[in-house]
Amino acid sequence: MKKVIFVCLGNICRSPMAEMIMDQLVDQQGLTNEIQVESRSTSTYEIGNEPHPGAIAELKQRNVPLVKHQAKQITTDDFESADLIIGMDKQNIIDLKQMAPQSAQNKIYLAFSSMNKDAEVQDPWYDHNFNRTYRQLMELLPAWLEKLK
Ligand code: 4NP
Repeated sequence: MKKVIFVCLGNICRSPMAEMIMDQLVDQQGLTNEIQVESRSTSTYEIGNEPHPGAIAELKQRNVPLVKHQAKQITTDDFESADLIIGMDKQNIIDLKQMAPQSAQNKIYLAFSSMNKDAEVQDPWYDHNFNRTYRQLMELLPAWLEKLK
């Protein structure tokens, strides 16, 4: 079993969307017994909160099965148990590298690096453009699944 954890600032917009879309891709390929998908925040801002209504609406519209989720901050145990830790933007990577033990430094990647792109999954928190988030994630997630297989 391989474990991937998607991470963003609040764990209510981008990373839960990444988790649910990746779960769908994993399920479509019959890999649910091989790949475990989770998501976490770097910050404490939204701990315990459900995904943003805009994120839920976008996922529903795209027929992505919804998974019950409450925001959780990444922990030392997460850093140890994960095989891959994928941050949505460059600040997430800076924060994750500061938080991670030495043994987990090499598990941390920028989401768009699966496409060899130096780009960020933009934060929909301010402009509520969850459609952009979905499109960006659909561009980069299949390549992560290929790497995890
Ligand atoms: P996320 O979006 O990191 O994609 O979950 C945000 C959620 C909350 C905040 C910022 C971004 N916030 O400032 O509380």
